[in-house]
Formats: sequence, C-alpha cells, structure tokens
Amino acid sequence: MNAMKETASPQSLSPEGEREMSDAGQTVLPSPLQGRGSKGEGQQNHALISPVSPRNSGLEAIRIRGGQSLNGTISISGAKNAALKLMCATLLTDQPLQLSNMPVTLGDLRTLAGVLSHIGTTAALRADGVAIFHTPEIKTPIAPYDLVRMMRASILVLGPLLARNHYAEVSLPGGCALGTRPVDFHIEGLRAMGADIVLEDGYIKARAPVGGLRGARYAFPKISHTGTENLMMAATLANGETILDNAAREPEVSNLAECLIAMGAKISGHGTSRITIEGVPALGGAIHPVLPDRIETGTWMIAVGLTGGALRLKNASLAHLGALLGPLGCSGVEIREENGDILATRTNGRCRGIDIMTEAYPGFPTDLQAQMMTMLTLCEGAGLVTETIFENRFMHVPELRRMGADITVHGSSALVRGVERLKGAEVMATDLRASVSLVLAGLVAEGTTTVNRIYHLDRGYERIVEKLAGCGAVIERVRG
Ligand code: EPU
Repeated sequence: MNAMKETASPQSLSPEGEREMSDAGQTVLPSPLQGRGSKGEGQQNHALISPVSPRNSGLEAIRIRGGQSLNGTISISGAKNAALKLMCATLLTDQPLQLSNMPVTLGDLRTLAGVLSHIGTTAALRADGVAIFHTPEIKTPIAPYDLVRMMRASILVLGPLLARNHYAEVSLPGGCALGTRPVDFHIEGLRAMGADIVLEDGYIKARAPVGGLRGARYAFPKISHTGTENLMMAATLANGETILDNAAREPEVSNLAECLIAMGAKISGHGTSRITIEGVPALGGAIHPVLPDRIETGTWMIAVGLTGGALRLKNASLAHLGALLGPLGCSGVEIREENGDILATRTNGRCRGIDIMTEAYPGFPTDLQAQMMTMLTLCEGAGLVTETIFENRFMHVPELRRMGADITVHGSSALVRGVERLKGAEVMATDLRASVSLVLAGLVAEGTTTVNRIYHLDRGYERIVEKLAGCGAVIERVRG
C-alpha cells in the first residue's frame, strides 16, 4: 500500500490551530502525554498526536434560551463508537491504517489517541480529513490507569495487543456513571482463546499461549458491543477458527469487521449473532471510512419532534435507525429521505406519547433513550420508557424534573406524563447522552437553561453549539 504518497498539504485541525508538522507533511499535534513526565521513546518526534487541542470544557457550560423551532441543515459526523474501535485496529498491524470521515474533534478520540500514543502509535491528519494511524512496533503493552480511567473504551486495546504482542496489561476500567459495567465477557472470551489472565493491582495482565492465541468458540452470556469487537480483533491473528455466538449486531461492529477484512482478516457473519473469524498470520494496512453517526442522527430527529420545524441531515443514513422510525412516526414526526439526505419535520401541534424499550441492536438504542425521554416530557398523554441495557441510565430524570417534567421511575421503567411546558434551570449530567438530553430540554424550555459539565458533550458530539445555532437555536458556550 502506498499510503503516505497520498498526503496532501496540511491544514488547521482545530479552532485553536495547535499543530506541528511531521516529515511527511502531515499535520500532527502534541500528545496529551507530553508535559506529564511520561514521554516515551516514540514520543520524541511529536508524531504521536491527539487529534484535538486540549480545551478544559469541564469548566465550560452551554447556555440556551428556549423557544425556537429548529430549521436548517446539519451535517452528521462520523460515528464515535465506530471510530474508537477502528483506531484500536492499528495495533494489529505494522502498516499504516487510513480512516476517513473521522470525527476528529471529539474528546473520546483524543483520549484514545493518548492511550495509543503511549503504546507506540503515531497519528496524523491529512488535509482531506483522513486520519492515518501507524504502529510500526508495540513500544509498551501497558495501558495505564491514568489514561484508561478517562474512557472505558480503552479496554479495546486489550484484544489487539494480546493478539499481536502476546502480552498486555490494561487497567481495569472500574465502574462508571452507567453502573458497574464489568468486562468479564472480554476476559472469559480471551481465556477461551488460551490466554492466561490474572487481575492484579487493578490491572488485567494477559499472556497468550506460546505461539499466540488459539481459535475458540465463545458464546456471550449477554450481548456485548465492545466485548464482541475486542474478541473479534483478537481472533483475527489467532491460530485457527473462532466462532462468537450471541455476538453484537451493531453497525459499528460490522464497520470494524469490514475494516479488518480490508486489512486481510477472514471474517464472516458480522451483522448476525454468529461471527466466524479464521485467523491469519499478519494483517496489513487499509483505507476505510467511518460510518455516519446513527446516534447523532437520531438525536437531531428527536430534537425536531421536540421543538418542531424541519431539519435536513446530510451525510446521514436511515439504514441503522429502523427502531427509532416507528416510535417517531407514531409520535407525529415525519421522516423521509430526499436526494440522499434525511428530512425530519414536525409541523403540527405537540408530539404524542409513545412507549419505548431499549434493546441491543436492532432494538431501540439505549444511546437514544434519554433524548426520547426529553421529547416525551412535552407530549400529549404519557409515554413509558424502559431501559434494559444499563442499570443506571436515568440520571437525566432528576434534572428534567427540576425543569418541570413529570416523570415517575419504577425500577428500570420511567413513566413520563406530558406537561404543557418546561422551565429553564441550571442543570448538569454525568454522562454523554444524559447531557445532550438536557440540551434538547433547554431548546424548548421557557427562559434560560444552563447545562454544566459539558465535557461529556464534547466527548461525543462535534461542534454541537455551532450545529444547533446554525438551525435557529439561541445557544452559546460560556464559562461555567
Ligand atoms: N456487560 C457485562 N460484561 C461484559 C460486558 C458487558 O456484564 O463483559 C453488560 C454491561 O454491563 C451492560 C450490557 O452487558 O449491561 C451491554 O454492555 P455492552 O458491552 O454492549 O456496552 P459497551 O460495549 O460497554 C457500547 C457503547 C455504548 C453503548 C453500548 C450499547 C462504545 C464505546 N460504547 O458500550 O455507548 O451504549 O455499547 O449499545 O461503543 C455512548 O456512546 O454514550 C455509550 C455509552
């Protein structure tokens, strides 16, 4: 592959434009590790990057004056939950991996870039927006606590490291705002492939058998999105065949499988609940697009249900949003495709109450539950929201109540009785999707809403203020 020959002239990556130039003429940024006394050999040339310049968004807030309907065009970013896993695939090969449609300004990508750079990955962004990741060698197979604690998805380096390097130490991610969220399936599956794994000093210390991981059969006790991805990546370099049963069917899993196949992996059945991987001795580089973010797309479709108006969503696909279309349609939001764009419209009255229950794909996504609950706060009648994926995903409820919502929680279900109006308030949330649900509430609330702790939003929504302001919202980023 001739990756570097395609390099175009560099451009600014971020409003702050913090950047340096690599020998290859690419734009590179300083690693988040720099200045923390942890500079490793591979970081000397600054070719280890974080795709965004640091901004202390923990101290910032978003202020919204509610009452405007949304009208205009939003371009959907590449999917965070696809991009993160595709970045980890760089650890499986010593060849460059080129990823297009990368949502490079997201905080989560920056965090993962820090983990990867610590391990030995260089990364650069071309002028045409293609990000190039290259891991010629594994400099250290250790993903330390101070990096992993910032983002649970860092666990996704475990499978690739073990497959390529035959040894890995990854900090246990611990609990998070959504509940305990164990990683026992990741560990059990790698053990089934012959890995010797101990949990010591807060770390998962994993050693592959002599000669590398062995193909195995593993049935997930419960569907796990990242569990499936971790084991699928590990199995690409294992000896023999691996069969993963009760595998996750999320489009992001298929997007990763397609990238791995382009790198030379032998994978079939992705998109179904049985994935078969025939191990190969080595993987090469590839050029691969990140799929559009279905959760961002769904968020703006729900936003129109709430505010009324009409949004045109570009670089978006309805293909992976089947479970949202039914409820939105029943509720009174019209969704259709036109010239490759998605049009979301609500022109008549209030939306109607509907019931939803989250499920693994292709069911209703847990990542849209909070946004849908916000929409229901103003519905005609009532709606029942049942969360089956995570044990603690109603953190937005007390905040929505403070804005005047009528919500009663019974275990894993929340009964939302529609009210006439929400009132602006100071609110804050402890996870990404809860945070965006409060932004949506602010768009329709009377008066001013201030959403604090917005680093959660910056983890997963690119340029959220600019995108909404471009469609008529009165919204700004302020010091918290
Ligand atoms: N689970 C276990 N053991 C495991 C793994 C999972 O018990 O080893 C349980 C979890 O505790 C949970 C359920 O299985 O109750 C499903 O968890 P899953 O592993 O599918 O979730 P995840 O892979 O950790 C990803 C996304 C989440 C998204 C879920 C469900 C990424 C980086 N994260 O999490 O995204 O909600 O799948 O689709 O892909 C978000 O973007 O805001 C977000 C939280």
